[in-house]
Amino acid sequence: EGRLSPDEIKALVRTVPDFPVPGIQFRDITTVIGHPRALASSVHHLADMAREGGAEDIAGMEARGFIFGAAVSIALGTGFIPVRKPGKLPVEVIGVEYDLEYGKDRLEMDPGAIRPGQKVSIVDDLIATGGTALAAIELLRRAGAVVEQALFVIDLPDLGGARRLREAGVDVRTLMEFE
Ligand code: PRP
Ligand code: ADE
Repeated sequence: EGRLSPDEIKALVRTVPDFPVPGIQFRDITTVIGHPRALASSVHHLADMAREGGAEDIAGMEARGFIFGAAVSIALGTGFIPVRKPGKLPVEVIGVEYDLEYGKDRLEMDPGAIRPGQKVSIVDDLIATGGTALAAIELLRRAGAVVEQALFVIDLPDLGGARRLREAGVDVRTLMEFE
């Protein structure tokens, strides 16, 4: 059995209007990761991109970024760096506040998770405003990583996140777009 194409995977994304707040079209990947071939295919597409980008390590953002990021790490044979929501890591962390499409949040990481100069690609399910990804990139760079690539299953190009990351010198690759 071959891989599902990005368009075939896109057809499995569930759109939920007015979640978590009125006016947001929520692009839900539950229906993608619940489908064995769609899950494996999306991970393999992302892993190909990470390999082409020369990733030595993968970082993923809690929580949906852990699903795809850890799977890509296993496909590539790298380790995985968790970029976490506040108060979860048992060591002294570095942290940054950021804005979301529907609120505010904070991300933290263990600066000791990075070997200086290590080439890290970030993986998440979706990029909207880019606030989450830019926060993760800032933390990883502060910890000494070289971050040149960011990979997402879904891009919402109207929200400008991919453009903001490209302006920060990051090569952005995504499997699909929703207007
Ligand atoms: C979602 C999504 C991305 C982020 C994208 O995560 O998984 O991480 O929003 O939005 P942005 O580009 O505007 O920052 P969310 O913060 O909802 O958390 P979750 O993964 O725990 O569901
Ligand atoms: N994260 C930020 N915006 C989102 C959206 N529209 N759907 C799913 N996750 C999101």
